[in-house]
Amino acid sequence: MKIWVPMDSAAKALGAEAVVEALKAEAAKQGIELEIVRNGSRGMIWLEPLVEVEIDGARHGYGPAEPGDAAAILAGSGAKALGPVEELDWMRRQTRLTFARVGVIDPLSLADYEAHGGLAGLRRALGLSGQEIVDEVKTSGLRGRGGAGFPTGIKWQTVHDAQAPQKYIVCNADEGDSGTFADRMIMEGDPFTLIEGMAIAGIGVGATRGYVYIRSEYPDAIKVMRRAVEIARAEGVLGSDVLGSGRAFDMEIRVGAGAYVCGEETSLLNSLEGKRGVVRAKPPLPALEGFLGRPTVVNNVISLATVPVIFEKGAQHYADFGLGRSRGTVTLQIAGNVARGGLFETAFGMSLGEVVNYIGGGTASGRPVKAVQVGGPLGAYMPVSKFDTAIGYEEFDAEGGLIGHAGLVVFDESADMLQMARFAMEFCAVESCGKCTPCRIGAVRGVETIDRIAQGDPQAPALLTDLCDTMRDGSLCALGGFTPYPVMSALTHFPDDFATAKEAAE
Ligand code: NAI
Ligand code: SF4
Repeated sequence: MKIWVPMDSAAKALGAEAVVEALKAEAAKQGIELEIVRNGSRGMIWLEPLVEVEIDGARHGYGPAEPGDAAAILAGSGAKALGPVEELDWMRRQTRLTFARVGVIDPLSLADYEAHGGLAGLRRALGLSGQEIVDEVKTSGLRGRGGAGFPTGIKWQTVHDAQAPQKYIVCNADEGDSGTFADRMIMEGDPFTLIEGMAIAGIGVGATRGYVYIRSEYPDAIKVMRRAVEIARAEGVLGSDVLGSGRAFDMEIRVGAGAYVCGEETSLLNSLEGKRGVVRAKPPLPALEGFLGRPTVVNNVISLATVPVIFEKGAQHYADFGLGRSRGTVTLQIAGNVARGGLFETAFGMSLGEVVNYIGGGTASGRPVKAVQVGGPLGAYMPVSKFDTAIGYEEFDAEGGLIGHAGLVVFDESADMLQMARFAMEFCAVESCGKCTPCRIGAVRGVETIDRIAQGDPQAPALLTDLCDTMRDGSLCALGGFTPYPVMSALTHFPDDFATAKEAAE
């Protein structure tokens, strides 16, 4: 009997290991021969640990599984039996391109990876020139999934055109945004796709070395990625003879130390070089002077992990999905006070309200939604009145928001938005690298000014607005520059929370 139990850290946190032990014990008791595959997560976190059992060639789900369910799982029955996983509503509504294999394959089996389309993209890229590879990425319309949405093909073009004895590919896996976990899920559930994407990037721009900078808070991802790199090297996917083409690319895993600002690319590069994680002024762009002063592609995990499918199915296939200038799919991470949290990959264009209410099922508390913070701790709080905003870079920008790394954190009506605004400033003050004044000093003054609003100071709201303008226009990087998004969106869309505080003080 073949059974899949995720080894994804969310599933483990929810008890997957105890379920595995119980299944083994029950199978031994019943004399059943069990083959347990440790897969990634399908992204339905509310169903984790989601055990899958092969019945008549289809994978039937059972979850959330507990050790006491072992006999029912083996019998393929019970109240938690979900039927074929691929037919669940959550799965059927998705367009899984980047996440096509996550939850399906054994993450550390290169054979399983290849059997599901893996390496087809790299093999195709090996027959193309560097410029053709860059052009393919441009045609796909792929934009940086880390948050800024900069066209990936143009970034690669800059590195491709730069003349230097050594170039690098650096993968930003310092996923620090609140409510985001897509990078982690890919690394734990389909690590070879990231390796393949980095190899294609390297061959495209002429870089022979790559680094994945992973945050230390992701021990499972670090372990899986390290092992996957070893396997890829042993099988000739990495090294001096990439798949027999004679083109070289190799990579290694580096571990960060837990600073949010090290997700900012220049700070990350400093950290990678063994220096303090302080932001560097741009220009020069990392594409021209990056790691060790050499031309460097710095891309997010999802950007790089999307490259293989673009080469496997063709740039146009990818570009055919999406809305406006947001092409392809977005890997939404739905979290916070929500009934069904998890990862949902879909073409750009779905409305925010559809994602929260229809996909996420509304709040977990059952109370009305008050706000959704989209784009991490630096993202705006979107009120329900903006729920018809389509998920797209320009569409969100037009509404004073940003998609960022596509994390959505849902809040119900009990949320105090003044406190949320205060938290944003406090977060900035704690995580600031200290290099520039608007952020280093501004964030501290921001906390004080919000406290003054809470105490009923009538001049404080105007001061806060002024301070946010200064931080937005004068900060060196997105940490100080984007903190005004959550603060000003809270002040603008939820004035009652600020007024109530004032009235209470009076
Ligand atoms: P940015 O707009 O300064 O740059 C975007 C990227 O394009 C950078 O890699 C930059 O080097 C590159 N670039 C710009 N012009 C170029 C050119 N002519 N040629 C080649 N490359 C060029 O944005 P930044 O500061 O890199 O990122 C800000 C975003 O990061 C925010 O939108 C925020 O949402 C996101 N973010 C994501 C986090 C996460 O956990 N994933 C955490 C914190 C922020
Ligand atoms: Fe450092 Fe903040 Fe300035 Fe960014 S905005 S460089 S984190 S002080």
